[in-house]
Amino acid sequence: MINIRLPVNRSRRSLVAAGCLKYSRFHTSAIRRNNPNEIAFVFDIDGVLIRGGQPIPQAKPTLELLKSLQVPFMLLTNGGGVTEHQRTQYLSKNLGTYLNPIQIVQSHTPFKTLTNAYRRVLVVGGPEDKARHAAISYGFQEVVIPADIVRADPSIWPFHKYTAEQLDQWGDKSVNVADKPFDAIFVFNDPRDMGSDLQIILDLLNSENGYLGTKRNLEKLEDRSKPAIPIYFSNNDLLWANEYKLSRLGQGAFRICVERLYQELNEVDKLEDTIIGKPNVLTYDYVHNALIDWRLKILANNDLVYHPQELTQVVPQLGEKPQNSPFKKVYMIGDNPASDIQGANNYGWESCLVKTGVYQDSDFHNLTVKPTHIVDNVYEAITTVLKTNQINF
Ligand code: G3P
Ligand code: MG
Repeated sequence: MINIRLPVNRSRRSLVAAGCLKYSRFHTSAIRRNNPNEIAFVFDIDGVLIRGGQPIPQAKPTLELLKSLQVPFMLLTNGGGVTEHQRTQYLSKNLGTYLNPIQIVQSHTPFKTLTNAYRRVLVVGGPEDKARHAAISYGFQEVVIPADIVRADPSIWPFHKYTAEQLDQWGDKSVNVADKPFDAIFVFNDPRDMGSDLQIILDLLNSENGYLGTKRNLEKLEDRSKPAIPIYFSNNDLLWANEYKLSRLGQGAFRICVERLYQELNEVDKLEDTIIGKPNVLTYDYVHNALIDWRLKILANNDLVYHPQELTQVVPQLGEKPQNSPFKKVYMIGDNPASDIQGANNYGWESCLVKTGVYQDSDFHNLTVKPTHIVDNVYEAITTVLKTNQINF
């Protein structure tokens, strides 16, 4: 028997404060016609819960309502560049409601499944040297970042924008960048010094077997579209929403630059690469598995999971299809039709498109992807879904 807790007064107060109460119907003796843990939500972050570092007002009451109803939910973002622990700490503080580190899948989280495939990796993007720590937390054995390489020899990209202090702080001087080959390149997040990142990535793609500072002989290559070492991009967002009035270029734009330059340098029309992140099915499989695991943890103890503590997550393999999903419906709530909604629709999930991020009303006529619901904000999304599924709240 599952112990279902009704929303407490604190949640009701926060709903009133956020101006959301008009959507709510509290019943002290509520009879739920559908089981709340047979549906689930997956939330995008930027443009849905947060925008430009500021919380979206409806985010906190949304998450608190789902917690009180024991409805499983995860966060799925194409953002990243930090550890899952750091990201959820920041979100919990910013949104004012606790989120467990295993409740989030960042763009690069599925790279956890590749730690045994590659030994020495170049990790690109993200603030300071934080992506290095994320990669190490996943279990990658040898992680090098561009700051290590620029620190060792700034002439590799003479126009770099690192200060001497930054190189000293973020660059690891113990790394000998040329003594061993690199096995793969992982773009964890948007570059912060695009010139040096581009140059170093292209050097490695065109190297002799991954040795930095070498150049392979084009004439001897059987297939020029295959780079010297594999490259993985963690998301393909051409655009994303921050506090600026227009959508900004994302990692997808950087990917286009890398591919285009590779094609030019190799006189070929393709670069063989791997792209994960929304809308890719690999990422949806990963989060679906994590969501099934999270539901079991909620059912075991709903109070415990929402307090700081280490929880062991069953990490799926990349491409592992979820077995026996307990969910009748999963709803992806997103602001980006091309990533959130497209990915959900392809995957057979329902989707809600909000108007607090990339998508605006004026885009309506250009909308080629059809979400299940178009709503003003995240709170309207979940209340619409709860009503549709006859779950009282
Ligand atoms: O691609 C940029 C990234 O910040 C988008 O994040 O949360 O909207 O998937 P999100
Ligand atoms: Mg978004």
